Amino acid sequence: MIVLGIETSCDETGLALYDSEKGIIGHVLNSQFKLHSKYGGVVPELASRDHTLKTIPLLEKLLAKYNCDIKDIELVAFTNGPGLMGPLLTGSAFAKTLAWTLGVKSIEVNHLEAHIFSAMMTESSLKSPFISLLVSGGHTFLSIIEELNKYKIIGQTLDDSAGEVFDKISRQLGLGYPGGPEISKSAEEINATPFNFPRPMINSGDYNFSFSGLKTHVKNTIEKVELTDKVISQISLDFENAILDVLIKKTLEAAEEFKIKNIVIVGGVSANKKLRFRFQNEKDSSINIFFPDMQFSTDNGAMIAYLGWIKSQSNKNTNLNINPKPSLNIN
Ligand code: KG4
Ligand code: ZN
Repeated sequence: MIVLGIETSCDETGLALYDSEKGIIGHVLNSQFKLHSKYGGVVPELASRDHTLKTIPLLEKLLAKYNCDIKDIELVAFTNGPGLMGPLLTGSAFAKTLAWTLGVKSIEVNHLEAHIFSAMMTESSLKSPFISLLVSGGHTFLSIIEELNKYKIIGQTLDDSAGEVFDKISRQLGLGYPGGPEISKSAEEINATPFNFPRPMINSGDYNFSFSGLKTHVKNTIEKVELTDKVISQISLDFENAILDVLIKKTLEAAEEFKIKNIVIVGGVSANKKLRFRFQNEKDSSINIFFPDMQFSTDNGAMIAYLGWIKSQSNKNTNLNINPKPSLNIN
């Protein structure tokens, strides 16, 4: 079966085609970061309008690039939340209209769940149960994935998500958006740093996170120093390490406590090269670490198409409503 996946939950319009027998056929993406960068954050109304403008040209591009016909599509999967109401509506309206026109079914997909299963698209040896660390712009939480539809959140951020803090500190440092890749690039310029920021809740004995105090601490430091390129890199290096130290320690501890050998790290921050390297380096030899393919760490339509297919096989009734703030226990 050929599945079209449509992702419009925030500022990325992502479309992909998934073949249930052969895997991902291809995907296309339009990022709106330039549109929003001058406002310092995503403007929902602008995001909705841009999704509306880009969805049809992207579908045409996707079909042409991968030599598919629109009539090949047998199922349309779309993100129904969490996300921004307007952007979600544009995607769901498009998906339902297209499915109706083609005479095929549409299916709604939870964006967080799609991230969680995104590594399975390319990692054929990955099987549940696994510990999932989801670190994105909107969320940071650890969960145990027993199997499809059976999840337990064991810890989450009590305030900001890790990605959000990357984005905010990047702006304070005069670097670009999205902040994660910019901070990493700046940190790569040097090997040592005199800064030693707090590692929030690193020894809290639970699996919760808190990044807002770190954000304030780094912000206060930025206000006190002269921001030369070297100082920016030094701040970036220790700030990045502070976030990674906490994420890595808590995730590895969770695997140990719950005796689960597979760990999956997903969401936009999982594109961080140092995070990938350090997880592989710092884990015990009995633990297996999985990441999505780099291009599927950040928001994309492929993970929506993939989970849409999996869900369509699990015989669950779907209501096709969007929900900007769903829980992960959606079924
Ligand atoms: O999953 P995602 O694309 O969107 C949400 O669902 O939120 O995640 C976006 C987040 C942004 O905060 C961005 O700064 C962060 O992922 N990010 C990174 C990297 N690439 C993207 N953070 C750290 N290092 C990266 N290389
Ligand atoms: Zn996301």
